[in-house]
Amino acid sequence: MMQIEPTGQACGAVVTGVDLAGPLAPDDVAAIRAAWLQHHVLAFPGQKLSDDDLERFTLAMGGFGDDPFIAPIAGRQHIIAVARAADETAPIFAETWHTDWSFQAHPPAGTCLYGITIPPIGGDTLFANQHLALDAMPAELRARIEGLTAIHSAQKAYAPEGFYGAGDKGRSMDIRPSETARATLCHPFIRHHPETGREGLFGCLGYVIGFEGMADEEALPLLVELYHWQGQERFQYRHRWQPNMLVMWDNRSVLHAATGGYQGHARLLHRTTIAAAA
Ligand code: SIN
Repeated sequence: MMQIEPTGQACGAVVTGVDLAGPLAPDDVAAIRAAWLQHHVLAFPGQKLSDDDLERFTLAMGGFGDDPFIAPIAGRQHIIAVARAADETAPIFAETWHTDWSFQAHPPAGTCLYGITIPPIGGDTLFANQHLALDAMPAELRARIEGLTAIHSAQKAYAPEGFYGAGDKGRSMDIRPSETARATLCHPFIRHHPETGREGLFGCLGYVIGFEGMADEEALPLLVELYHWQGQERFQYRHRWQPNMLVMWDNRSVLHAATGGYQGHARLLHRTTIAAAA
């Protein structure tokens, strides 16, 4: 019998009593999706999953999203490796708040991340609940962002001169910077969750590079102020990994960020994205 235990933090729940290493019954899929929409982040400990299992689970949750700029692992089209060698010195991958691929026209609804090699210390993933971040926002700050359209782009990360561009040496991950990262695309900054209708903030400084109709001199300090607001500890869930643990999160509700603190230890997780809801 499936059990769903909230983490007691700003979001997240731990799901037990279900085996993801086989096809799921429609009722289980519906229960998992409902819990995911409610808690925004679900952790499934003790799941011995193959890449086939990870793909089947992703398909059951909504199908594959499109993953640019990072090559898939050998033999798979939809799985990337979030990998770091024990002696790696490149900056930690994804160590700033973001929501996955928010610069796409139809950003992924969710992301699945499966723990394979987990360091004994560090390497937690942080999540920040963007419904709570909006609910708690002072009226004065909210008035300044009401009706704004955010300009999203991958350029600061994946353009040739970006953070993961040509200057990014000695990284285990197979990142492929590209000129296509310069493209921009807009989404409302305050928006209703496409499935639950709940209002929240979508995206943050990083993939968000400005606001439509606002000069950079005004937009960038505002984005910095918002970034600090959005990631506050009171909106956070800190996820501690175990090997054989699957986590799925809702990119429309939470920001996430990797953390370091495991130098000298390897870390490997396999990741898929769940396509936008039809
Ligand atoms: C990611 O943002 O996909 C990676 C998160 C992590 O490595 O903890």
